[in-house]
Amino acid sequence: MTRKKLGILISGRGSNMEALLKAAQIPDCPYEPMLVVSNRPDAGGLTRAREFSIAADAIDHRTYGKDREAFERDVDGRLKEAGVQLVALAGFMRVLTPWFVNEWAGRLVNIHPSLLPKYPGVDTHARCLAAGDLVHGCTVHYVTAGVDEGPTIGSAEIDVRPGDTPDLLAARLLKAEHLLYPRCLAAVARGSAERVREDVAVDGDIIRLFAPK
Ligand code: GRF
Repeated sequence: MTRKKLGILISGRGSNMEALLKAAQIPDCPYEPMLVVSNRPDAGGLTRAREFSIAADAIDHRTYGKDREAFERDVDGRLKEAGVQLVALAGFMRVLTPWFVNEWAGRLVNIHPSLLPKYPGVDTHARCLAAGDLVHGCTVHYVTAGVDEGPTIGSAEIDVRPGDTPDLLAARLLKAEHLLYPRCLAAVARGSAERVREDVAVDGDIIRLFAPK
């Protein structure tokens, strides 16, 4: 098996990145992390990536001023230099230009903390609670030019509990994200698409995964 070479873009603590790196330690994982890039030099995820012996670089978007594409060209150059074939956004807090999205079309995936198409953008947990939803979730999707709009690869659901706050809900959903993202990425790397349901119990929550096998 040739493993697809993976690049991961982050902006912060990188817990989803870590879930991807951990899954890649299993011998039959179909992707191989090559590089982590953060647009923020102080991102905690950079240190964590290096602890996994993965090359981790900061490319500070602020040094490019308003020239988003110049920043992205440098990120793109670094990814290509590392031989990356597949890019995962993991808490990467920059909207990408159509140039970058086209360059990586079909090979660029993101995890979003809502059941898309519900709640694209920010504050998803608070919006879910304000709407009185009984179910919350996360979605892994291909990235297209529209923000949080691309085709779904997989999703995971949890029940909203009485007394949930945005922070409590976010923390419980994060565990679902960590299960969902490696499965979806492995499926993209392998080229499988058919979603199957699997219920997984984690710390008192039942996580309903709808992910390709
Ligand atoms: C996650 O909730 C992810 O869904 C969203 O940003 C958050 C990043 O968290 N896109 P982490 O950096 O992976 O811990």
